[in-house]
Amino acid sequence: MTTTRSAKVNFIFVLTLILMVVQTHCENLRDSKSPSTNFTKPVDLSYNIDEETSVWNPNVTYKRDKIIAGHMIPPDNHWYAENVFSLPEHTGTHLDAPYHFNAKGGKVADIPLDSLFHVEGIHVDVTNEVHGEPKFVLDEHHLRRWTETYGKIESKSVLLINFGWANRYWNRSAYMGTGYSEHNRNFPGISIPAARWIAENPNIVGVGVDTPSVDVGHSTTFDVHKILTGANIYLLENVALNNTYLPARGFQLVVMPMNLNPHGTGAPVRIIASPYCIGGAALAKDGLK
Ligand SMILES: *[C@@H]1O[C@H](CO)[C@@H](O)[C@H](O)[C@H]1NC(C)=O
Ligand SMILES: *[C@@H]1O[C@H](CO)[C@@H](O)[C@H](O)[C@H]1NC(C)=O
Ligand SMILES: *[C@@H]1O[C@H](CO)[C@@H](O)[C@H](O)[C@H]1NC(C)=O
Ligand SMILES: *[C@@H]1O[C@H](CO)[C@@H](O)[C@H](O)[C@H]1NC(C)=O
Repeated sequence: MTTTRSAKVNFIFVLTLILMVVQTHCENLRDSKSPSTNFTKPVDLSYNIDEETSVWNPNVTYKRDKIIAGHMIPPDNHWYAENVFSLPEHTGTHLDAPYHFNAKGGKVADIPLDSLFHVEGIHVDVTNEVHGEPKFVLDEHHLRRWTETYGKIESKSVLLINFGWANRYWNRSAYMGTGYSEHNRNFPGISIPAARWIAENPNIVGVGVDTPSVDVGHSTTFDVHKILTGANIYLLENVALNNTYLPARGFQLVVMPMNLNPHGTGAPVRIIASPYCIGGAALAKDGLK
């Protein structure tokens, strides 16, 4: 009896110590990585998928067929519901596998889990410089200024470029370009030198934008796609970055594309941004580095 009780007391003591250590790690992380922020719980950076979902080619859209929904299943007429959907791989918030523009690049199923799960989020917010101007191009100096302000990118990271375009998402002509037609797209993108700067950093495994493409809207040669996928970097497009409390860095991303194997050139993706610590508990071993 006494032995059991002291074992219990010991256990609680050890547990408390562990929790204190974790808590301290969390406080350190909070101080060093996310100085002052409202960002205290996970947020979804993906749009919902429905009939209005943004597609590159408006002729091929999301489709849903209702198979069954009702109290119809014998012998007791129980409830059962099921749909069938179809959609292009590169629809809504989606991932481009390197193979999309690089014949030697990996497909969706080839992307290693540690490039998708608990990678560091880097938020390059140029909204105030874009001012809604679709001709804006993110240049190398914007990225250099970011690293001068917030530090080098030294852990496995995904760069999220925020052009302030996300609020337009459900209005196709505002999002793709006024007077939008198949050959008249108009929205901000990444410059060729900026793409080269990104491709030179081996720690950057993915690049996301809150526009339909990493290339500027009017591009027909898709140079930025070629440079980034040429470096085996995956791309995230139509990312919902109109989240005012996403800090410049010091948060983690979980990037989960559908595992379309073996042919996936891209896939719809769920992207979750999360602080390293929630309620004093560290979420991932990586967060304790
Ligand atoms: C979409 O369909 C229209 C009408 O059939 C056609 O003229 C147009 O070329 C198609 N666009 C693409 C990108 O396939
Ligand atoms: C972000 O933009 C999308 C698309 O316009 C909108 O549905 C959503 O409510 C916006 N979210 C926030 C937090 O403003
Ligand atoms: C969509 O955007 C266009 C172009 O910016 C604008 O003229 C139109 O009023 C918008 N539509 C809605 C429903 O807000
Ligand atoms: C915190 O959130 C509020 C609204 O929810 C916003 O007005 C404020 O700017 C945010 N502060 C920071 C530091 O992001």
